[in-house]
Amino acid sequence: MTQETSVLTAKPDMAPDVAPIRKVFVKTYGCQMNVYDSDRMTDALAKDGYVSTDVMEDADLVLLNTCHIREKAAEKVYSALGRLRDLKKKKAGEGREMMIGVAGCVAQAEGDEILRRAPAVDLVIGPQTYHRLPEALKRVKRGERVLETDYAIEDKFEHLPAPDKAKTKARGVTAFLTVQEGCDKFCTFCVVPYTRGSEVSRPVAQIVAEAQKLVDGGVREITLLGQNVNAWHGTGPDGAKWGLGELLHRLTAIEGLARLRYTTSHPRDMDDSLIEAHRDLPQLMPYLHLPIQSGSNRILKAMNRRHTTAEYIALIALIKAARPDLALSGDFIVGFPGETDEDFEDTLRLVETVGYAQAFSFKYSTRPGTPGADLEDQVPEDVKAKRLERLQTLLLKQQNEFAQACIGKTIDLLLEKPGRMPGQLIGRSPWLQSVNVDAMSSQIGDIIRVRITGAGPNSLFAEVVS
Ligand code: SAH
Ligand code: SF4
Ligand code: F3S
Repeated sequence: MTQETSVLTAKPDMAPDVAPIRKVFVKTYGCQMNVYDSDRMTDALAKDGYVSTDVMEDADLVLLNTCHIREKAAEKVYSALGRLRDLKKKKAGEGREMMIGVAGCVAQAEGDEILRRAPAVDLVIGPQTYHRLPEALKRVKRGERVLETDYAIEDKFEHLPAPDKAKTKARGVTAFLTVQEGCDKFCTFCVVPYTRGSEVSRPVAQIVAEAQKLVDGGVREITLLGQNVNAWHGTGPDGAKWGLGELLHRLTAIEGLARLRYTTSHPRDMDDSLIEAHRDLPQLMPYLHLPIQSGSNRILKAMNRRHTTAEYIALIALIKAARPDLALSGDFIVGFPGETDEDFEDTLRLVETVGYAQAFSFKYSTRPGTPGADLEDQVPEDVKAKRLERLQTLLLKQQNEFAQACIGKTIDLLLEKPGRMPGQLIGRSPWLQSVNVDAMSSQIGDIIRVRITGAGPNSLFAEVVS
């Protein structure tokens, strides 16, 4: 039986002139959690006969999974929707229907506005209602324009299908797993508490079951995700609340799961058991994304980060004492309202003190509805641009120094995907660097010993150590 007839048999109610296989094109913006969510939505749609396509023009459904974190990110959505409107029109002229859906954080924050500004959009769906996506599409088919942005009372994870073996295999040997969602911290610059809602932690059993499925599908490295992943406190099988350190311990019991990571962490939520996990679990990679945003205590206070630079530096010393080869990455915002030259110099000094293997830095972007938007003393664009350039120069220098310091080291490399040249693979170092090495594609998923021989701008080079 061909695949097409089997799909037709499975869907006896389908009109004979309707294409038996429907195609969905998903475009993902923003953070890793959106990457995870896009896969979960694709999995939910697969049950209704949708297959993914990389060609937007072929799609019966185009889903934009959007990000609202900075103004530029949100603007991208409206320009993409302009292009999609034209494509939808063109396809309608050819007698082919195309549905347009907007998911993610812009959907949550500006649902009504999207429907008003973009009449071609059929569906707006917020992150807490993805399990209702198949039902929402049925409503669209009946001619409705659907807005689904409630905070659902039911647990979406209970209703979203976990990845199956075939899909997991196709997605590779590393995977994301969302364990925590939402944020209760309300930093004054940030939209996340409004777009993702309050903190929710998935229960241990659900997480372990999903991790086991991933490993059954060939995954060797799992990155636990959360907007504040170390604020995770899920219910354990014993009925007690577990912390992330305990969860990591439990996950190391899954045979075949070689590596664990977690991101993004808030400095206030690094508890003792999590720090001990860095000491005790060799599977937990020595790489930590621990954003501070600014090196000025005055600005940290205005941002409502609720810790000082001294506390941050002391915390890092503690984690490094537990795991001496730990490397750090971070996030920085320049030009938060009221940031003076002196505050900015403090940020540069903090970066010098800490030393980052990698870091992301952004110009402060005023977000409507956040307390920061109402603050006086907004910093002019040209000042922000100059500060960003200086900060990025320093961070890039540190990143290169970190890469250079790796040369000569013998490390474990998780072989991940084909490299640029035939006979080469790209692997990941414990510190999340891409490393090129001569290896066979049958070795993807293996962890091998290599010696780092060189460093390019974006990746390292290595040779196999026997
Ligand atoms: N929960 C994480 C951050 C999630 S948002 C934490 O607390 O560290 C990812 C990053 O986007 C932030 O760390 C911050 O550096 C940046 N960001 C968030 N809001 C921003 C804004 N309004 N302007 C510029 N950058 C912003
Ligand atoms: Fe945003 Fe702050 Fe929450 Fe991070 S901790 S998601 S920056 S509000
Ligand atoms: Fe963006 Fe939402 Fe992630 S605003 S950074 S997609 S949580």
